[in-house]
Amino acid sequence: RQAEAPSDARRPQAHDLGLIHRPRRNRKSDWARRLVRENVLTTDDLIWPLFVTEGSGVRTPVASMPGVDRLSVDVIVREAERAVKLAIPAIALFPYTDKAFKDARGSEALNANNLVCRAVRAVKSAFPDLGIVTDVALDPYTDHGHDGVIADGRIMNDETVAILVEQALVQAEAGADVIAPSDMMDGRVAAIRAGLDRAGLIDVQIMAYAAKYASAFYGPFRDAVGSGALLIGDKRTYQMDPANSAEALREVALDIEEGADMVMVKPGLPYLDIIWRVKDSFGVPTFAYQVSGEYAMIEGAARAGWLDGDKAMVESLIAFKRAGASGVLTYFAPRVAERLARG
Ligand code: PBG
Repeated sequence: RQAEAPSDARRPQAHDLGLIHRPRRNRKSDWARRLVRENVLTTDDLIWPLFVTEGSGVRTPVASMPGVDRLSVDVIVREAERAVKLAIPAIALFPYTDKAFKDARGSEALNANNLVCRAVRAVKSAFPDLGIVTDVALDPYTDHGHDGVIADGRIMNDETVAILVEQALVQAEAGADVIAPSDMMDGRVAAIRAGLDRAGLIDVQIMAYAAKYASAFYGPFRDAVGSGALLIGDKRTYQMDPANSAEALREVALDIEEGADMVMVKPGLPYLDIIWRVKDSFGVPTFAYQVSGEYAMIEGAARAGWLDGDKAMVESLIAFKRAGASGVLTYFAPRVAERLARG
């Protein structure tokens, strides 16, 4: 046997496993892996969420989201420039509202000069071709931290929807390209669409947070917008039960019927099954939100030296593509875009 050993070390003897199929062949080298790769992540898949705060030249770190800061409007404009240079298609803006401006009805949401509107106008005038997504919900503006108005201890659906329509109009008039209702009130997509159309804003898109779960993974975001410490109780009477999936399909079907141009599933990684089912069932542009808690888990572990942060970031993002997502809202957007640009 020894004498018959192949002289070429690259040709090892086949043993008697009788294998016809060797899936490892297609993984034998980098070029072969690239050739059979089924999904790719590109910068076109990214929406970058940013937190806006008062002042100028301000960057305030968000303790529970290492690497993420709240930014004053002038700094937001500089970050928008970074997004444009990296070819990130769109940013999403969320305000940190001073307590002095918060009340039970979230009135500041309707102020055409509030932080978000000022940021939208500043970014739009500097970079008209960068997409801007704004969040419609009252929680950054209410002194109780809920997404709607409260009466007798209940979050009032229809009263809230009427306010959300006004909020959407204020944002769209400021120049927002995409209105993203994240409140989970019933009927808000239809009401917002009708409101936008009445105002002649027929090209403003709606990206509905269609299947939004009552999730512990939003914790760091609530720190970032300053609503966490204020929140009374939880959001389980309007956000979805994590145990449900058929209900997510009903929610998405309703939002599409009501006129949503795009739908979103949120959180991301723990809900990849929902993304898959939504995309498979409806075939509409379906986005995932890799939320603050998911970011914090990866980045926190990376900073502790427990995993390779860059690899975990890329792996988590390709998972969304595999699940069928059209794109991802992610706090990693600039970092992964820089990585993709380097090749
Ligand atoms: C507001 C809103 C939330 C998020 C986006 N919009 C928080 C919540 O519903 O409590 C979460 C985003 C994140 O965690 O990154 N309604």
